[in-house]
Amino acid sequence: MELIVSQITHEAQDVLGLELRAPSGEALPPFAAGAHVDVHLPHGLCRQYSIANPPEERHRYVLGVGLAPDSRGGSAFIHHQLQVGQRLKVGAPRCLFGLSDAAHQHLFVAGGIGITPILSMMAACQARGQPWRLLYCVRSRAKAAYAWPLAQLGGRHILLHVDEEAGGQPPDLSEFLGPAAPGVHVYCCGPSGLMSAVEAAAHQAGFAQAQVHFERFTAQGPAAGSTQGGQAFTAVLHRSGLRVPVPHDVSLLDALEQHGVLIPYACREGLCRSCEVGIVSGQAEHRDHVLSEHERLAQRCMLPCVSRSLSPELVLDL
Ligand code: FES
Repeated sequence: MELIVSQITHEAQDVLGLELRAPSGEALPPFAAGAHVDVHLPHGLCRQYSIANPPEERHRYVLGVGLAPDSRGGSAFIHHQLQVGQRLKVGAPRCLFGLSDAAHQHLFVAGGIGITPILSMMAACQARGQPWRLLYCVRSRAKAAYAWPLAQLGGRHILLHVDEEAGGQPPDLSEFLGPAAPGVHVYCCGPSGLMSAVEAAAHQAGFAQAQVHFERFTAQGPAAGSTQGGQAFTAVLHRSGLRVPVPHDVSLLDALEQHGVLIPYACREGLCRSCEVGIVSGQAEHRDHVLSEHERLAQRCMLPCVSRSLSPELVLDL
């Protein structure tokens, strides 16, 4: 859909809020708390941004956009060139995060711009009347976005950890999480270091894997999200019989495209699932950020923008 940039707000140092509305003023497609949208930018770039506003608001999407220090054009364009009144192509909201229906109490850990989906999820908790607490980790107070809506949601449930005031000490995650209990779920969105620390602390506190949820807002780390360093293999298309050689330095998605097999995609970083394809046989080497452990082990689907094959041949449901 084509949406109009109706407002750009300064939310914190290097964080902008974008408000998008339908040009006609009509209601937008509904979204679940924690959802994100694909935003198509000039030069063919597509970036995923989480929706920050409450799901009951149907007239707008509010996105939080942090300026990435190593921006390859996405956040730099939004921060330096995007103007109110401009139109952007935006995909329908999708939710890979969201509140678990099995939970009756929610513990959120946000790092920096990772607060964006959590803001919407906290509003949803309020609407459901379910208790929540937030640990919000920022480098400095100047970088703490959405201070006003957070204060309105309930400051006493929020613990702010400011790196530069803590002398670089990490937050005490085990104290924040406390011991695991049935119906208590943990959600984390932020840099990969914080997510790894939350994963370890939650495991140590006794939370089951199904009680802990992560949203990765950017591809990080050398293995996950990388298409480099793999073995060459052959992709076999089950329905057409086409055989596509995939060299060691070319992604499966690129190789398929070079042979005229066009698959929908958005991020090309293993973050959005839009390129998902079925596996008929063979063993995929999953390098994405979104499949669950169960899905990885099942070997029924893969994301060819980043994932490769461990077997010499990989038969795809194409
Ligand atoms: S294009 Fe986003 S996961 Fe492949």
